[in-house]
Amino acid sequence: MASSSFLVVSSIVLSIMFFNGMVPMHAASQDDIISTICKKTRNPSFCFNVLNSAGTTDLKGLAIFTLNLAHDKAAQSRVLAQSLESNASDPKLMERYATCAKHFNNVVDDIVDGKNYLGKGDYNGVNTMASTAMTEAGNCLDSFIQPPKDSTALSGSGKVVEDICSIILVIANLLLGRA
Ligand SMILES: *[C@@H]1O[C@H](CO)[C@@H](O)[C@H](O)[C@H]1NC(C)=O
Repeated sequence: MASSSFLVVSSIVLSIMFFNGMVPMHAASQDDIISTICKKTRNPSFCFNVLNSAGTTDLKGLAIFTLNLAHDKAAQSRVLAQSLESNASDPKLMERYATCAKHFNNVVDDIVDGKNYLGKGDYNGVNTMASTAMTEAGNCLDSFIQPPKDSTALSGSGKVVEDICSIILVIANLLLGRA
């Protein structure tokens, strides 16, 4: 009698441990990784949209996905800046767009390096690259703080580059175990 109620109590305790601990933790881990990353980025809602479309929750897979996206967006921003430079009639704007084209060209190069670092498992390199790329894009955007302002799509495009690089930075930190 005493031993059978001990068994009943034990199995209830084990069930509670199982359902409160192991099972939900495992089931939640896939959403958790995206949430863990995005909470640390400069634009969490943008990050959720990007990472939910990645089709993976593997950290390296997410790094590859965001590096490819950053590459495309930086290349688009470079083309846009070049076109704006050649169309600008204001010499100040023309010079700023030319400088932006150089910055975005550097970002494209940084991201190519970043992909190589990732392939070699050099996550510190990926981290540094993401930070450098954000600074490059930011320098373009900052050049329009003084008038004449940029009223084109370039500012939005540059901000997207910054936002993606912010995600890459966080993923690199997680790969380094600095969660
Ligand atoms: C630059 O001018 C050309 C010719 O008018 C036009 O097709 C192009 O869209 C312009 N570029 C930008 C970025 O506005």
